[in-house]
Amino acid sequence: MTDLDALQSRATVDLAAATDELSLRAWNTKYFGKTAGEMNAALKDVSKVPADKRKEYGQKANELKVALTRAYDQAIEAEKERTLQASLSGTPVDVTLPGRKPPSGRLHPSTVMLRRVAGIFAEMGFQIYRSPEVEEDELNFGLLNMPPHHPARDMWDTFHTTTPGVLLRTHTSPGQIHIMRQLCPKPVRVILPGMCYRFEQVTTRHEMMFNQIEGLAIGEGITFADLKGTLLNFARRLFGPDRQIRIRASYFPFTEPSIEVDVDWPREDPNCDRLTKGTGWLEIAGAGMVHPSVLRNGGYDPTRFSGFAFGMGPERVTMLLHAIDDIRQFWRNDLRFLRQF
Ligand code: PHE
Repeated sequence: MTDLDALQSRATVDLAAATDELSLRAWNTKYFGKTAGEMNAALKDVSKVPADKRKEYGQKANELKVALTRAYDQAIEAEKERTLQASLSGTPVDVTLPGRKPPSGRLHPSTVMLRRVAGIFAEMGFQIYRSPEVEEDELNFGLLNMPPHHPARDMWDTFHTTTPGVLLRTHTSPGQIHIMRQLCPKPVRVILPGMCYRFEQVTTRHEMMFNQIEGLAIGEGITFADLKGTLLNFARRLFGPDRQIRIRASYFPFTEPSIEVDVDWPREDPNCDRLTKGTGWLEIAGAGMVHPSVLRNGGYDPTRFSGFAFGMGPERVTMLLHAIDDIRQFWRNDLRFLRQF
């Protein structure tokens, strides 16, 4: 049986030596722990005590248990009070100080422009579709009227993959075929924004990757006047209500006729010369009437349906609007640049 006097003096000395909450809790485990607590063990010993001494032992053990428990509770209380006093008299916390601001993210300047442009076309009834960035040669070129070895393919320096016939799209125009085949024979009025890739010598004005926004409208009786009206309306909503557009003849294999579209720039703007290279006109898009063979490749009968298409570069427009002089900034991930927008 346990020597209760020895247990009492050990427990008392140990408790006096415990000076913080952690060691007080350790003391409690040592004497009152469920599995190996010494006090608990002493209580269990009652059954081993010879019958004539059992009553005396049991009484004494119980008294010791009560005394130790009380001593422990008092010690813990005192310790809590000490900690509270220490924190109250220590360096005060100024709860009225403003909180630390979490770093806030922002949209990439290209995303801002894509959303603005998408908003303008949405108001004109255009829906937004996506089409793949990894594309088949057949869709990027073939079905757009450029069979293999067609010289017009030279207009797009291309990244080919190691899988024959699979490339990174050089423009968003293959999306025209995707969407026509999906919606045929219903009328189409969509924009297709997204990244394009070209095997370009990277300079301040040329990047290997950039966004394009493709526009496509197909229906019965759509004319060149609709294309003109749509682009004029777009230019006025993006740049201002008094803007004029100018149309120049151009060439793309998938549109006939093909055009380039310029917007006039106010002469009184001090940036006018820089933005327009002195001409007063800013190029915003390539466009044209969808070629009959392309309509046919999309599933539409060109004797019944007609349509227009355009492609514009939102980074170019963003550069002009914000006087950004190097297109490489867009994908450099330099926060000093990105934070300005
Ligand atoms: N896809 C052409 C380009 O990348 C632009 C374009 C789109 C021209 C649609 C006409 C019609 O240069």
